Amino acid sequence: MNADQPKKPRGSREQKLLDEAAALLPASARHVTASPQSAMIIREGRGSRLFDLSGNEYLDYLLGSGPMLVGHAHPVVLQAVAAALERGASFLLPTESAVELAREVVRSTPCAERVVFGNTGSDGVIFAIRLARAYRKRDKVLKFEGAYHGQGDALLMSNQWTAEPAAFPRPVANSIGLPIHTQEEVLIAPWNDIDRTAEIITRYSDELACVIAEPMQRTLPPRPGFLEQLRELTLRIDVPLIFDEVVTGYRLGYGSGQGYYGVTPDLCVLGKSLSAGHPLSVVAGRRDLMQFAEGGRRLTGDYVSLTGTYSGNPISCTAALAALELLREPDVYANLFKRGQRLMVGCRKAFEAVGIPVQILGEPPAFEPWFADHEIYDFRSAQKSDRALSFRFGQALLDRGIVKGHEKFFVSIVHTDEDIDYTIDAIQDAAHELAHA
Ligand SMILES: Cc1ncc(COP(=O)(O)O)c(C=O)c1O
Repeated sequence: MNADQPKKPRGSREQKLLDEAAALLPASARHVTASPQSAMIIREGRGSRLFDLSGNEYLDYLLGSGPMLVGHAHPVVLQAVAAALERGASFLLPTESAVELAREVVRSTPCAERVVFGNTGSDGVIFAIRLARAYRKRDKVLKFEGAYHGQGDALLMSNQWTAEPAAFPRPVANSIGLPIHTQEEVLIAPWNDIDRTAEIITRYSDELACVIAEPMQRTLPPRPGFLEQLRELTLRIDVPLIFDEVVTGYRLGYGSGQGYYGVTPDLCVLGKSLSAGHPLSVVAGRRDLMQFAEGGRRLTGDYVSLTGTYSGNPISCTAALAALELLREPDVYANLFKRGQRLMVGCRKAFEAVGIPVQILGEPPAFEPWFADHEIYDFRSAQKSDRALSFRFGQALLDRGIVKGHEKFFVSIVHTDEDIDYTIDAIQDAAHELAHA
């Protein structure tokens, strides 16, 4: 990366593709910060870098919205996947890689006794909820306001894009096109408020199928004791606690968020970082819950259907085994945390130096600067932060060759100290610009 190198103007080929994308792909025009001027067509990714079609190079902290923890096109992953492709792409029947991966997930994930594969985080969450409903013979799901659990109808409610929150525990749909009755089956509680959450759980305990939480909700870590008390409450009434670890899985450590925070749920969903960008998710958990998916029960009326044509395909499982091998190397997480921490501190200092109030929240592998002078700990306090400034910050970084998502910096194991230095310099420069705009 060279900070002094001027940005190449957008070439006509990239512009033509962008115009076509805008016309043909209504749901995909979310590039980077959802602003038209920041849209780009990606030519390729290498390690911590992205390259657009006009030949510009970017340092990437979007990482495909998280999954590229081992960086883009890692040679170890490439080699393993190329060899797997030679042997065929999809069989429905299990392969050695699927069994090996299940074994490794069980070994590394505290709650995992049995494993079911899906293709996306969304279907993993749908599967986990179905298992909990089967176990409890109840329908209601409690989720936290501001949490995102994918695209399943049941939970596309009160997520981080909610404009007008309702009174707890009433959900707000984040999409039209959802069956109206799904809203009757979702309860919303405030993240990090154990007293209010306990009240809702107690009031609805007879109707509850499960409680689902991201162990770190977006970039809002749990307050000390919050997850522990949630665990205790749900155990007491035998309501399965599901950790949606689609983001935190293998990102906060080899034992995922549950290992990192030391709280073991009944079921968890892993995705993203698990498989280096190859579509794969895992539902894992207690044997007595997972057993509902056993094929032998199919005709008994006591069976939970959790299958998919591509679930556990050898390409994705092989990619996951290669990614996990990389993540098991000595000091990988120590270095990831060290670099992420340096970036968090650099970011805080850059805004403090120019007098812009900021809180850098999250954990070093995934964090976000929130612009506010009140404490941010849940959806409503986050909603009152200066989101327009966050947006402008994303744009200012992009102007300096750095890509990040709407709400997170994702750090990879291949970001170097030089990458971090470059980014801190760029953040300082951007902070200065924003303070004097
Ligand atoms: C916490 C969480 N759960 C579930 C999902 C859905 O995963 P996918 O996009 O793979 O369906 C996401 C995606 O961002 C997520 O962040």
